[in-house]
Amino acid sequence: MSGNTTRTAIVTGASKGLGAGIAKALAETGAAVVVNYRGHAEGAERVVEDITAKGGRAIAVQADVAGREDVSRLFGRARAAYGPVDVLVNNAAVATFAPLSDITEAEFQREMTTNLLGTILTTQALAAQDDITSASVINVSTAGTVTHPLYSSLYVASKSAVNAFTIVAAKELGPRGIRVNAIMPGPSDTEGTRAMGYPGSDQEAQAIAATPLGRTGSPDDYGPLVAFLASDDARWITGDVILASGGLR
Ligand SMILES: NC(=O)c1ccc[n+]([C@@H]2O[C@H](COP(=O)([O-])OP(=O)(O)OC[C@H]3O[C@@H](n4cnc5c(N)ncnc54)[C@H](OP(=O)(O)O)[C@@H]3O)[C@@H](O)[C@H]2O)c1
Repeated sequence: MSGNTTRTAIVTGASKGLGAGIAKALAETGAAVVVNYRGHAEGAERVVEDITAKGGRAIAVQADVAGREDVSRLFGRARAAYGPVDVLVNNAAVATFAPLSDITEAEFQREMTTNLLGTILTTQALAAQDDITSASVINVSTAGTVTHPLYSSLYVASKSAVNAFTIVAAKELGPRGIRVNAIMPGPSDTEGTRAMGYPGSDQEAQAIAATPLGRTGSPDDYGPLVAFLASDDARWITGDVILASGGLR
């Protein structure tokens, strides 16, 4: 990270998918990276091994971002290993695509607590550190908040709330030198979208046809953007919500 002072990053939900790509990209810039996961320890350990094999610093820490105690333990482990946390990537999220009639209260709780409350709790924990003088929070939203795909109402509502939270939190935390931005990835090939049957589907073909750069995204597409937002090169950027979707809108 050129000219930056940030050294310790937490990437939530980094055991696979976009989070894994982002964790690796941050490690390549010299940051010590905490690879958070909820259930899949093996995936997180693989990401740690990839990073350390290249000479980087990383540890895996299990924590459910939707719980305050887990978040507190996550920050405690990060600080004990590497010192104050000055980069936070809120990537962990869950999604289902379903017609309005199928949305249950249980699914509402699951998506809103992971996607929105999780982002709030981790950002609070970052800001609660009284030994940081600057920091960068990057929230991973979705291009769906611009394209509004059919059957995504709950998921896109949760991420639209993340976009709004990003802008307000940036105002509140700016005076302390804490920048808060969000990125809006386009449809990408990850374990999550594979489990939904997205690759090879009609939906994917339609999205590719509507994407000026003509392909589905990959986990490698987002790391450089997040590393930039984490770095001092982005020192004048806060409260922004950036579309990174190959032009799909
Ligand atoms: N892939 C896309 O097409 C796409 C497009 C736009 C936006 N996004 C956004 O990009 C981010 C990553 O998506 P992805 O497709 O890479 O997801 P993914 O493959 O499903 O991976 C999700 C990650 O989040 C973790 N996670 C889930 N709930 C958690 C919780 N409560 N606490 C901690 N970790 C939790 C998972 O950990 P475990 O596996 O250990 O449970 C996993 O590491 C999400 O915010 C998603 O909304 C993705």
